[in-house]
Amino acid sequence: MRDGSRFVVLEGGDGVGKSTQIALLSGWLGAVGLPHLTTREPGGTPVGEAIREIVLGRSDLDIGPETELFLILAARAAFVRDVVRPALAEGKTVVADRFSLSTLAYQGYGRELDLDHVREADDLARGGLRPDLCLVLDLPAEESRERQRRGVDEADRIEREGRDFRERVRRGYLELADTEPDVELVNARGTPEEVHERIRDRLLARFPGVFRGGGATDAQQVG
Ligand code: TMP
Repeated sequence: MRDGSRFVVLEGGDGVGKSTQIALLSGWLGAVGLPHLTTREPGGTPVGEAIREIVLGRSDLDIGPETELFLILAARAAFVRDVVRPALAEGKTVVADRFSLSTLAYQGYGRELDLDHVREADDLARGGLRPDLCLVLDLPAEESRERQRRGVDEADRIEREGRDFRERVRRGYLELADTEPDVELVNARGTPEEVHERIRDRLLARFPGVFRGGGATDAQQVG
């Protein structure tokens, strides 16, 4: 990795406003002239997008928790090899919409798979690569559900899960933010601009120097 490139992940339950925040963050990184790439998981590569279609789009399939885990991790292996590592090697900052913490929160806490097994399998998929920082956007599960309902898109296979699942996922994120290294919680209440400011503050505090300055803009989006 060249100096200056960072691997930053935005995390959180469905409906917390991640996509809006990724767009605002990308605009800001462009304005400060930081070469970067925004991308999402599952997805980001052709095989990853095909897997995303199965995992989220195929509500007609009975996909068990272990099968779901391995589909997502299969997409992750391609994502790390074909997207994240090359971008970091070129000196770009990578901003990902979800990564391994989602797997711990959704497949570990949400689907109630053994957390140590999920961690081991995930470690294999990401080849040991770790984000420099994960920011978990946090909202009470019912508030994010309400935001999601107001959205235009139809609920996908995982978004259709009930309240208990959403509560387990949120509890998972809160516990992980407490115990995992390089994971910070961000209050997702308020206007998009207010939340964006909180995210910017975290990045500036965490990586002083990297997220300041001018220069040519080089923004790219994958997935
Ligand atoms: P999103 O891209 O709209 O946030 O949707 C991705 C969905 O996939 C979301 O419901 C969370 C789920 N997911 C998992 O269950 N495990 C994972 O490891 C990842 C990356 C996503």
